[in-house]
Amino acid sequence: MDATSQRLLMCRPTYFAVDYAINPWMDPTAPVDPALAVRQWEQLRQTYLDLGHTVEEITPVPGLPDMVFAANGGTVIDGKAMAVQFRDPQRADEAPAYRAWFEDAGFEMYDPKHVNEGEGDVLLAGDHLLAGTGFRTAHASHAQLQEVFGYPVITMQLVDPRFYHLDTALTVLDEQTVAYLPEAFSPGSQAVLRRLFPDAVHATMADAEVLGLNAVSDGRHVVLPAQATDLAAKLRDRGYETIGVDLSELRKAGGGPKCCTLRLRQGKASK
Ligand code: ARG
Repeated sequence: MDATSQRLLMCRPTYFAVDYAINPWMDPTAPVDPALAVRQWEQLRQTYLDLGHTVEEITPVPGLPDMVFAANGGTVIDGKAMAVQFRDPQRADEAPAYRAWFEDAGFEMYDPKHVNEGEGDVLLAGDHLLAGTGFRTAHASHAQLQEVFGYPVITMQLVDPRFYHLDTALTVLDEQTVAYLPEAFSPGSQAVLRRLFPDAVHATMADAEVLGLNAVSDGRHVVLPAQATDLAAKLRDRGYETIGVDLSELRKAGGGPKCCTLRLRQGKASK
């Protein structure tokens, strides 16, 4: 299997905290170790560098504890960047910060007309854009994604509040293959996934409950939460190399490796 070198955007969790609850993972009364969160994030960043990826960093903004979750900062494909609009007011100010970064970096900008939480809910799988809805990203935004990017958009209906973003329920492994938790999707969306990806890896609830599906694949190496041991074994059986990372502190906000990582797709060549 061929690994693709990727250009990634990350945001250091300098101001990370769990101050509010906008998903079932977040408990503002439970202790969080912010220094450990930074060390875990640095390990994730180093893992990408060791794999030969390029990591760019956006400057964290005080008062935006979830800004570490760069996947929610936008959707970037073929040199086009679609900015985001968050469902929750607590995260609203992250959108212009990410938008400014994309603009400075020279991407062609598009603004969302509806709630759209970026790569948290929008995943490019081969020539299809899989777009989640049900909790965050509005269904109406799917039509705009198709217009902007010109990939057929497949709506994925999420049904379990613990798996509120598509990237908590499904991982793109390469152009042909995904891994997912069937129960996180409506019956119709499960049927679509079976049709599109007959050889998909099915994760167990135990894997999903440690955010195992919140993984980053370069087509050969899969970076995933260290606790997702069954999923890692299944991926190794399929020929992937798995790299476990511990993001226990960020998981208290409902995020894993993929949430901390936004893929910057320059153009077709570097897709
Ligand atoms: N606390 C954040 C939220 O609820 C976590 C975001 C995780 N990001 C992701 N791409 N799934 O919005």
